[in-house]
Amino acid sequence: MGLRAAITGINGYVPENVITNADLEKIVETNDEWITSRTGIKERRILKGEGLGTSHMAAEAVKGLLKKTNTDPKDVDLVIVATVTPDYMFPSTANLVCTQVGIPNIMSFDILAACSGFIYALVTGSQFIESGRYKKVVVVGADKMSSIIDYTDRTTCVLFGDGAGAVLLEPTEGEEGIIDHILHSDGTGENHLIMKGGGSRYPASHETVDGHMHYIHQEGPSVFKFAVTNMADVAAAIMEKNNLTGDDVKWLVPHQANKRIIDATANRMGIGEDKVMINIQRYGNTTAATIPLCLHDYESQIQKGDNLILAAFGGGFTWGSVFIKWAI
Ligand code: UT7
Repeated sequence: MGLRAAITGINGYVPENVITNADLEKIVETNDEWITSRTGIKERRILKGEGLGTSHMAAEAVKGLLKKTNTDPKDVDLVIVATVTPDYMFPSTANLVCTQVGIPNIMSFDILAACSGFIYALVTGSQFIESGRYKKVVVVGADKMSSIIDYTDRTTCVLFGDGAGAVLLEPTEGEEGIIDHILHSDGTGENHLIMKGGGSRYPASHETVDGHMHYIHQEGPSVFKFAVTNMADVAAAIMEKNNLTGDDVKWLVPHQANKRIIDATANRMGIGEDKVMINIQRYGNTTAATIPLCLHDYESQIQKGDNLILAAFGGGFTWGSVFIKWAI
């Protein structure tokens, strides 16, 4: 076995401003009972402040990560940011984050894979470590979902929140690290989960604004069906590929879109609730940030050598799983 990439540090950042289910009851026709029983969400964080975009939260997460790991910004070789809510169409959010953090002139780029963005970015970053090319890679999942939410649409506005999470990847020759991954995509998901306006097909115009095309559009029940099947299947598939039983898995780190999807995945994997990382009740669905925010929240409970299965499903469609043997 050659070089492996290992996560050697984690950090998360969520904005201070909290929106509870009770707050949403005042804005749209909804109620705490519906939101809690259908999704598991109790509250979410919203980034406020003139001129603050996703890069602000990502940079806060990265600054804390570098501090925690005693990493000099000048030693970082590569930064990847997964997001569907970049500050701009261009330049990339990763470029902006590097400058805000004081990481000078390195390769940096964004990845767009919606709710699977973090695992896509993690797998991409790990390749640069495994090749021996880079020694310190920062992978970020960050989204300011509030910037693309229609707060008159009760079917989506209760679901999403803002946040960012970041990990440091470094090489290891040991047993631990990122062991395996399975990633998928299927563009036939296009119309089920999409932000239609503002790209090259429907550039911003009065019509796109009037038609609410700059907001997230989701056909909830059909996405639910695809999510429940594919997230469970891909989590089971990586276990089978690596000869893991439910007893071998210490943690499921699932994308936090809906507690019911998470429960179905855990069930399929044959693991109990005590092994499932959950923070959907506090943050809602933060898209690319859910998985690193879970790792951040549960950091003190993860032990060196633990087997983790990361699993996600989201827009595209995109989905996948990653098998990690915890290294720190
Ligand atoms: O992260 C990216 C991937 N996304 C996902 O994985 C999300 C997948 N989908 C879901 O999680 C669920 O489909 C939702 C949570 C979005 C919706 O739950 P559901 O159980 O599928 O509900 P539904 O959309 O079938 O709606 C049931 C009822 C409808 O009323 P009628 O037609 O039965 O009278 C909705 O109009 O609930 C109504 N409804 C609401 N009621 C109160 C929809 N939104 C709300 C709301 N408050 N916020």
